[in-house]
Formats: sequence, structure tokens, C-alpha cells
Amino acid sequence: MKSLYLDIVDSTNKWAKEHILEIEDKTLVYTFNQTDGRGRLKRKWLNTGTDNIYASFVLKPSAAMKEVYSNLTQYLCIVLAEIMEEYGTLPKIKWPNDIKINDKKVSGILAEGVISDNELKGIILGFGVNLNTNKENLVSIDQPATALNIEVGKEIDKNEFLKKVYDRFCLMYDEFIERGFSLIRDDYIRRANFLNKNVSVKVFDKTVNGLATDITENGALKIIDKNNKEQILLIGDIL
Ligand code: BTN
Repeated sequence: MKSLYLDIVDSTNKWAKEHILEIEDKTLVYTFNQTDGRGRLKRKWLNTGTDNIYASFVLKPSAAMKEVYSNLTQYLCIVLAEIMEEYGTLPKIKWPNDIKINDKKVSGILAEGVISDNELKGIILGFGVNLNTNKENLVSIDQPATALNIEVGKEIDKNEFLKKVYDRFCLMYDEFIERGFSLIRDDYIRRANFLNKNVSVKVFDKTVNGLATDITENGALKIIDKNNKEQILLIGDIL
């Protein structure tokens, strides 16, 4: 495992961005003590104790941006969900990349690109997993939260879990970059908890309502709105 452990850091994503030029491709920057974690849509990712995981993959697939890079959060989502299944749970995915167990969020993913001089210097793919959290320390930011130890009923070895994430992520990574979202589409749809349901999706400062009918070959969300019009959403957050 190519990794960089930090004893304490404000945000592994921020740290990895600042040090991107010195960090090798496919390095996992991680800590068990993150003091100012960032989430999607300017949310925060709170520190729920030192037995939880706060980590960021540093990826350098090419100097030019490719469409498939925006699907990396969904690829990581599948990797995490498969590992959580090995622990005997039934994780579900809320588009695009939240993982929920028993309708409560257990993990969050945040991807950030670093571009300078018109070149992609790398992608920071950060993830937080509530691995071992006391019920009192669980904080619901945008939705109810849970932790893997609560769902499994025993403590989870954090180093073992991280190693599983690293190995499984690297296993299919090159093929994923080559073939794109279609490689994992079936695995994604099988775990999707929002299809054939009426959903409200926040797209920047707008909300789109409708029936979620499918996930496209590119990982976008297909919706039929109240005017019976099909909408393909590439970005957003199901509320
Ligand atoms: C979300 O659900 O909104 C995404 C949360 C992502 C949190 C992780 S924790 C490690 C990495 N460093 C950060 O500052 N954020 C990500």
C-alpha cells in the first residue's frame, strides 16, 4: 500500500492538494484525527473520533481532464460498498456517491481536481467512513448518520479496513479509467436506493423534482419530471 500517514491534519483533501506535486500517483493520504474536514456542497465532515477513517487518494491519471474522472467518486462508492458487504451489512447508494446502511449515511466522498498552467496536476479523492463511533458522537449533517461498528455489532479494525479499500480500489482502477462508468453500472444500479421513486434533486441553487428512472452509461441520473419531460442530471444531490 502506497500511503502517507498524518498524525493530525485539518483536512486530508486540503493537505493532499497543497502537496500534490510531491506525492506519487495512487498514494493514500490518511489520518485518524482530522480537525476541519470538508464535505460536498460546502458542508463539513465532522471528526467523530480517532477510530474512524479520514483519507484521500492522490491520483494522476493524465495531464488532460477526461469525462471518466468525474465518475471516480462512484467507483470508490462501489469499492466501499463491497467492503461493507464483506462485514455482513447491506449498503445502499444514494446518487451520486453517498453510502447508507439502514437508511443512514455511513460514508461520504469528495473529489477535487488540481489544475494549474492548464494542466491537470491530479485528482484528490477523499472519503470519510464512520467506522467506530459511539452513538452519542454521531453527527447528522445533512441526513441521519450511522457507523459500521453499530451496524455490525462489533469494533472494526481501522488499518485492516483501510488496506482493503486500497487494494480493492487499485485492483480495477486502470480498467475503470479505460472503460468508464459502464464497468460498474450494474453493480451501482443493484445497490441504488432511489430508482423508481419520486425524488427532489438539488442542482446548484435549483431543485428538480420527478421520478428517478435510470442511471445512464455515464453515471448520470435520469428523471421524468412533472411535465413528463426527461431530464439527465450530471451533477446534484438527492435531498
Ligand atoms: C460528503 O459527504 O459531503 C463528503 C465528505 C468527505 C469527507 C472526507 S474525510 C477525508 C477527506 N478530507 C476532507 O476534508 N474531506 C474528505
